[in-house]
Amino acid sequence: MRSILDAPHILKVTSGRVALAMALRHAGVSSGDEVLVPAFHCESMITPIRWLGAHPVFYRIQRDLMIDMTDLDGKLSKATRALIVTHFFGFPQDTISLRRFCDKQHVVMIEDCAHAFFGSYAGYSMGCVGDYAIASVMKFFPVFDGGCLVSRESDLTAIPLGSPGFITAAKSAVNMLERATLYQRPGVMISPVRGALALKNLVWRAAKRRFGRTEKMNFAPPSSEGGSWFDPAWMDIGMTLPSRWVFDHTLLTEIPTIRRRNYEMLVAGTRSLPNSRILNSELPEGAVPMVFPLHVEEADRVASMLRKQGIAIWRFGEFIDAEARSVCPVSMDYSEHLLQFPCHQELCISDMAWLVGRIRSALLGGVGKNSGVTAS
Ligand SMILES: Cc1ncc(COP(=O)(O)O)c(C=O)c1O
Repeated sequence: MRSILDAPHILKVTSGRVALAMALRHAGVSSGDEVLVPAFHCESMITPIRWLGAHPVFYRIQRDLMIDMTDLDGKLSKATRALIVTHFFGFPQDTISLRRFCDKQHVVMIEDCAHAFFGSYAGYSMGCVGDYAIASVMKFFPVFDGGCLVSRESDLTAIPLGSPGFITAAKSAVNMLERATLYQRPGVMISPVRGALALKNLVWRAAKRRFGRTEKMNFAPPSSEGGSWFDPAWMDIGMTLPSRWVFDHTLLTEIPTIRRRNYEMLVAGTRSLPNSRILNSELPEGAVPMVFPLHVEEADRVASMLRKQGIAIWRFGEFIDAEARSVCPVSMDYSEHLLQFPCHQELCISDMAWLVGRIRSALLGGVGKNSGVTAS
């Protein structure tokens, strides 16, 4: 089972965006440098570049999500220092050609494995061809915080990591317990856990009444609270102990197989539906999907209808940077029309059948406002 953790040098930090900023800084990227980045992106991929004073230069992607190499070549300049290679949704880019390109142009290659924690390409584990790679641990593991910065060649041990602090660690533990309770995970312990959490809420509310709200409280990285901005206060800080414990003790072996199975169920169930198009019907060997991307004509309507039924639809790239808007028609199209459906390892065959049924109904026009359908 291959993953980004096969890289020899690994730092466990608080988020993917912090790992990206640390990779760029370690590579010597600074003010005035240019960093090549896909026009199809999210804000948290761009803010670390600007925070370093560097300039993002956006390149095009093709319909199959692969990098447009001709456009990439045309975006090189004397100021180009680094290339960010994003393995969208878990589909590996051609890292072998990209490695050759970077070597020839003396550009640092950073693999963005935020969507591709697992898998391999051409026999190489994800993240092990670039000079650096980053991962967003929260996207694959049930943790409060977490990112990885890895490198195949650079020893990262010289980067000292500070502690996130006791309050953040406690918040991390409580958050994971809350989520576990939501999904009935503590088993026979559920009642005592619920009681302890209710007590914590009482104490917390009383403390807030007594001491008032402190606006400056900054106990969690933005990524852990669903924010897309970049807060440099979380640079050079290690993952919290509770998150690290869960991360280190999660049984990894089944994850790629289950994710691939769930993806294939989505492909089979949504093939030839009206007003929609599957981006990748075939899973390349070694690919471990994060989500299932589906191009939908009436994306806003369908997303809103399915979210109401409890389906966790993701819309990566929904907000494209103003500078990138005129660069790549494919990225703009995907920003408006691409919905990503879950294929998470915890979804069993009946969950997937239910999910496929909901998508089919929404696209075939079978689920109206008063259908009475509820989430499983
Ligand atoms: C492709 C990509 N790279 C980087 C990141 C940043 O990861 P994090 O949210 O862990 O900071 C994200 C977040 O969604 C992402 O989608």
